[in-house]
Amino acid sequence: MRESPQSGERNSQTTGETTGLGTGLILGIESSCDETAAAVVRAGSEALSNVVASQMSLHANYGGVVPELASREHLRNIVPVVREAMSRASAVAGHPITFADLDAVAITAGPGLAGALLVGITYAKALTFGLDKPLISVNHLEGHIHAVLMETRQRSELPMELPLLALVVSGGHTHLYLATHEQGSETIWTYRNVGRTVDDAAGEAYDKVAKLLGLGYPGGPWIDALAPHGNPRAVPFIFAEIKHRAPRPGVTNKKAPANTAGPHFDFSFSGIKTAVLRYVETHHMRDSIEARRIALAADPTLTPKSAAAVKLCDQQTLDLIASFQYAVVGNLQRQTFAAAAALGAHSIVVSGGVAANSELRRRLQAEADRRNLTIAFPSLALSTDNAAMIAAAAWPKLLARDFASEDLGAAPQLRLGQQ
Ligand code: KG4
Ligand code: ZN
Repeated sequence: MRESPQSGERNSQTTGETTGLGTGLILGIESSCDETAAAVVRAGSEALSNVVASQMSLHANYGGVVPELASREHLRNIVPVVREAMSRASAVAGHPITFADLDAVAITAGPGLAGALLVGITYAKALTFGLDKPLISVNHLEGHIHAVLMETRQRSELPMELPLLALVVSGGHTHLYLATHEQGSETIWTYRNVGRTVDDAAGEAYDKVAKLLGLGYPGGPWIDALAPHGNPRAVPFIFAEIKHRAPRPGVTNKKAPANTAGPHFDFSFSGIKTAVLRYVETHHMRDSIEARRIALAADPTLTPKSAAAVKLCDQQTLDLIASFQYAVVGNLQRQTFAAAAALGAHSIVVSGGVAANSELRRRLQAEADRRNLTIAFPSLALSTDNAAMIAAAAWPKLLARDFASEDLGAAPQLRLGQQ
């Protein structure tokens, strides 16, 4: 279990005390994929605790998340993780915080793995039923956006100017949302999905390319750490423009963009994965990849940042890695800023596991500075899945008394906002 370093920082944000909602304390729970997480957040802006039990090492043996194993681990972890979040929140507050002090429990309802989601939902339902407290259902993707908004409030920065464009980029998702407040409200959010991947998510491409090159899982941190050692212009990867077509009547394609109104800024990452595979084959890299895979498996202490990890890669591999990342980041950058310009966004939020990527942060920050746009990234701890973001996204819903019904179920394909 790990604790987010920034939990416990205080600010002067309005709390629930001024809204008649107790102290605005929300226990957030997240179990949509391979992290069991719980956090206590006050008034959507002060994380008193943020506990994450990662299953990464378990799934690393398989090179990806195994749904049955994930559900089993969530079952094992959920009670201790919630207890730990409550006890750390008490330590930070300087007085005991009990379940009775909570104003609500927030739970991720989707998207995610059905069995994994169900563990959290069933637990949260039982808890709120026993405590007679409201249950708030949160979309995981909305959570990623609110991770950043919470941290800007935590740092007492000016609120992000609306409408804002959110790039949510992780192992399961690559989405662009235009987000603003509902007309006449200063708290209720509305979202429009203005871009999405038509095939693989960006993080998925990182994971698949890393696996293909004999690197560890998850692949993002490996490629991030190794890319600076290679030449990003060695292999010119090209992204084709994605034509957005309105669906033909009667034809449904789950992965295809569903919106019909307004401009769309879609992504596709399966082509670059195939191009890397082709490069590996035409350049006869299979033997060196297999040697690297065996060396890595033999030494579990090796991390992406260890000097020995670089030594496992020849220059051709490092150049391939650098070129892959350069192309992926370039594509994310182009689509994000094209969308921001076309849709009149005043600020940009980047979130999700891939938001931890150092080249993505550097290049998007530089481009935002050039265009005089505000851009915000989450801290590294809040880039990947966590429950503080779920509790933060639940705060406006608590203010609006937007509670989940008793028959809340898992929604593996849940979408966010207008499509
Ligand atoms: O948000 P997240 O924890 O879980 C999902 O909802 O998918 O994201 C995990 C993804 C993985 O694909 C991982 O490879 C990627 O985020 N990732 C990174 C980095 N750190 C994690 N990708 C690129 N660079 C990183 N530094
Ligand atoms: Zn996520």
